[in-house]
Amino acid sequence: MKRNGKGTTNLLCWLCRLSLKTSITTNLSGVLASKGQKVLIIDTDNQGNAALSFGKNPDSFEYTTYDVLVDGLAAEMAISNVYQDITGGKIDLLGSNDDMAFLDFDVLTQREKYPEPFLLLKNAVSHLKNDYDFILIDSPPNLGLITGNVLSFADEVIIPFQPESYSMRSLVKILQSIHNFREQYNKKLSVLGIVATLVDTRTTLHSQVLQECRKYCYENGIQMFETVIPRSVRFASSVAYEGLPATLSSDKSNKIVRSYYDLLQEIEERKGVQFGSKK
Ligand SMILES: Nc1ncnc2c1ncn2[C@@H]1O[C@H](COP(=O)(O)OP(=O)(O)O)[C@@H](O)[C@H]1O
Ligand SMILES: [Mg+2]
Repeated sequence: MKRNGKGTTNLLCWLCRLSLKTSITTNLSGVLASKGQKVLIIDTDNQGNAALSFGKNPDSFEYTTYDVLVDGLAAEMAISNVYQDITGGKIDLLGSNDDMAFLDFDVLTQREKYPEPFLLLKNAVSHLKNDYDFILIDSPPNLGLITGNVLSFADEVIIPFQPESYSMRSLVKILQSIHNFREQYNKKLSVLGIVATLVDTRTTLHSQVLQECRKYCYENGIQMFETVIPRSVRFASSVAYEGLPATLSSDKSNKIVRSYYDLLQEIEERKGVQFGSKK
């Protein structure tokens, strides 16, 4: 998550099914907006869950990320404001819905129309960096054309990691894939850090896998955040009705809300910067 002057920042949350990609994107956006930051969320997943987090039905959008990437629609036409903070911070959303499921097929079957299939996102939205302090990109669970577009545009990646027995293997694989992709398509891309999600530290398995992950990251020079996002079934069922991410709708004493504040603070400490003033 880089900040240069008034300018730019991209971030991507991505890895595995149900690892809180959307939750991290929307909740970090909430923390940033409450600190006076202007945030754009770009949803690139066909589930459209970023919109749902703000109480919007993704099927109600006239235009979505698909129209911007495939039909060349001006991104501004598809962006709407979903949150305005009293600090002056705000969250805009370039939403997504089921149309995204067609993107791979539509683009790859018309290669003459799309000569740079990995650069559709970058070409369409780079100019928006001037309008926002942060651009956070929510992405699909798999590596494919859409994620390739996200990785071509992003400066930094946050990788959520759910400590189950199979996850170390896929984490190593994903880090390798990002490394290879970076060499070929986006040399400025870096891994900002790995954040453990849905953690139940009372579970021996979680503690063991977390320890293994920290060791692997340490040995390979990869950042892993101290902050973990705890699992809470009660919390999961309550957020569905709020119409706002938890960091904007729940009390800061809630341990999950707190974890997102802690995560942002850790990012600030690592970068030696402070985003906005209000806590
Ligand atoms: N701290 C939490 N503990 C348990 N479940 C959670 C928590 N935060 C979010 N969830 C639930 O987990 C599910 C997956 O989260 P989501 O962020 O949509 O994952 P992804 O985008 O990676 O698919 C959602 O139903 C969400 O409500
Ligand atoms: Mg999601």
